[in-house]
Amino acid sequence: MNRRTNPFAPGAGLQPPDLAGREKVLEHAAIDMDRVLDGRPTKGMMLLGLRGVGKTVLLNRLHSTAEEKGFHTAKVEAPEGGMLPQLLAPELRQVLYSLDIRLGTGHKVRRAASVLRNFVSAFKVKVGDIEIGIDPARGQADSGNLEQDLPDLLIAVCEAAKERNAALGLFLDEVQYLSSEELASLIVACHQVAQRNLPLFFVGAGLPQMAALAGNAKSYSERLFDYPVIGPLDPEAGREALANPAKKEGVYFDDDAIEEILRVTECYPYFIQEWGFHVWNHAPSTTILRQDVLDATPGVITHLDANFFRVRFDRLTHLQQKYLRAMAELGPAPLLTGDIAAALGVEAGSVATVRQQLINKGMVWSRRHGETAFTVPLFGDFMKRQMPELEKHEPKRRGS
Ligand SMILES: Nc1ncnc2c1ncn2[C@@H]1O[C@H](COP(=O)(O)OP(=O)(O)OP(=O)(O)O)[C@@H](O)[C@H]1O
Ligand SMILES: [Mg+2]
Repeated sequence: MNRRTNPFAPGAGLQPPDLAGREKVLEHAAIDMDRVLDGRPTKGMMLLGLRGVGKTVLLNRLHSTAEEKGFHTAKVEAPEGGMLPQLLAPELRQVLYSLDIRLGTGHKVRRAASVLRNFVSAFKVKVGDIEIGIDPARGQADSGNLEQDLPDLLIAVCEAAKERNAALGLFLDEVQYLSSEELASLIVACHQVAQRNLPLFFVGAGLPQMAALAGNAKSYSERLFDYPVIGPLDPEAGREALANPAKKEGVYFDDDAIEEILRVTECYPYFIQEWGFHVWNHAPSTTILRQDVLDATPGVITHLDANFFRVRFDRLTHLQQKYLRAMAELGPAPLLTGDIAAALGVEAGSVATVRQQLINKGMVWSRRHGETAFTVPLFGDFMKRQMPELEKHEPKRRGS
């Protein structure tokens, strides 16, 4: 069919043609934003989910909603390895400018600019000049200890927003990549802002292990944020995600075709977009049949293997690859860490380091102690195609 009008949007952070099945979270967040604008106490949100479930597009949608509602916003994607001050400072500088820093005689806005200047110099961040805020703010965000300085800075910016009858929206993607110091500092900052009832709406997004990481960093974090779980779509939403965008272009999916796509994709949004996209291109007529899906599927899998799965696989050492291959052998459900080691022919202790490396790389996660699961849906099937044989691990002996 006509590729020019193909509505599907497979990719990372690409707005889908129909953001299906997320109405509850959107509504919940919209209410929370109104509460913040009304000066009422409100929890932040941490959107948790596996790779490709649609956390980024949801975060972006909430960001747009916040801007429409008049929030002044800062949006950051945490990189692997952590550099939160470097990314956050320019965004907050932008916020202060949008609060009319130049016109401002407002004491709090000028003070926030001084606090930001201290922060920038304490963490050697490169941002443009901060022209306002000549009043010194000694002892504020100048210790070089992020757990003290980030709260100082966030409080100062929120106080400035409040002085202008405005509110700050802070959006942070890939939260699991923050270092433990950064995560702890962020939680302390949100906590202190909440205690002062300052106007902040925080939304974070990350892999599911975030909840435990946040809890380990500060035990009160579970009361500071709501943790909506962003999972695969329910079948009804999955149907909408396929049928609605097609219908707008005068194209219809047969029910059986939709069922087949939902079966192979397990209702994961990214895979739904990939299948929708390829099946559309493959189908000869404006009514898409189950047979069209069956015909297109091998090509979609080849495409995913060569791209989506492959880039993740190539970032791993051979031992890390073997570990994931052993997981694939045992099945998709969360696995006992000891069983994975046994499949590799070793004790759990011999592969504890490799497991931790895979967690740090965001490839696996642990719902509870002693369990391990893939963060990338359908990755186990890929591992079996990529490495048909399961190899045992033979740890090198010391001194050999
Ligand atoms: N609710 C939805 N309905 C239909 N398609 C969706 C939905 N949410 C996301 N998608 C599609 O899924 C794909 C992945 O979305 P996104 O990049 O937001 O996922 P993610 O959870 O941020 O993944 P990652 O953990 O890898 O960053 C995109 O192609 C997007 O268009
Ligand atoms: Mg994302």
